[in-house]
Amino acid sequence: MAKPFLETDGPHHVAIIMDGNGRWATQRARPRLFGHHAGARRVREIVEACPENGVKYLTIFAFSTENWKRTQVEVAGLMSLFRRYIMKEMQAFVKENVRVRFIGDRPKLDAKLRGLMDEAEAMTAHCTGTNLTIALNYGGRDEVSRATQRLAQDVAAGRLRPEDVNEETLPRYLDTHVLPDPDLVIRTSGEARISNFLLWQSAYAEYEFIDTLWPDFSADEFAKLCAKYGLRDRRYGAVKA
Ligand code: FPP
Repeated sequence: MAKPFLETDGPHHVAIIMDGNGRWATQRARPRLFGHHAGARRVREIVEACPENGVKYLTIFAFSTENWKRTQVEVAGLMSLFRRYIMKEMQAFVKENVRVRFIGDRPKLDAKLRGLMDEAEAMTAHCTGTNLTIALNYGGRDEVSRATQRLAQDVAAGRLRPEDVNEETLPRYLDTHVLPDPDLVIRTSGEARISNFLLWQSAYAEYEFIDTLWPDFSADEFAKLCAKYGLRDRRYGAVKA
């Protein structure tokens, strides 16, 4: 059953860089893909924890434009995991009233996976609960480049005047054009970098870099980070009155 949303001072939109699957597996002397499978199982718990924390939008980084540099075995394993994940989880997301979207450069993904992504988006298009966005073959610079290409085409065709290119019009060309900007970006596994994730959108986000490896990340820790965010004083460059 879909849970009701609580009104909290917490973040409205949380974005997560789910890092540490490989190390989690290595610590257990298992192949890296074992860690990715464990990581995939954590996603549902965090999605389900969104309503009680007032989180209406959750965006997760599943595969970056740079991740193709991993071994062929790992890339193929991840693609197969994404296909299976979509097939397995979508009914549950519909039941939970979760709307699923994907961001990233789709044409480079295989046709079967693209078909499943389209299906998942269509199946959950009527859902009004948590908005889950999965970044797949996503890179912030790549997204801005693709957006700029489309924007330039509109300018060349006379649909947009160069003087109308600004902070309001440019984001309309981004993959995230229907989403609000993230309020809180969490990265697990102790690395303090953003790795090309939501570069434009995170200009004013708060960041949490935590040591927990993604497969160990829990709904409890998620709730604590959301509550901590509620205590922060966001000024967006202004001085507090
Ligand atoms: C980073 O950990 C994780 C990834 C590149 C893949 C993320 C994928 C998942 C969490 C599972 C699937 C998600 C969905 C939506 C089905 P890493 O391998 O870089 O870890 P390491 O830094 O310890 O090597």
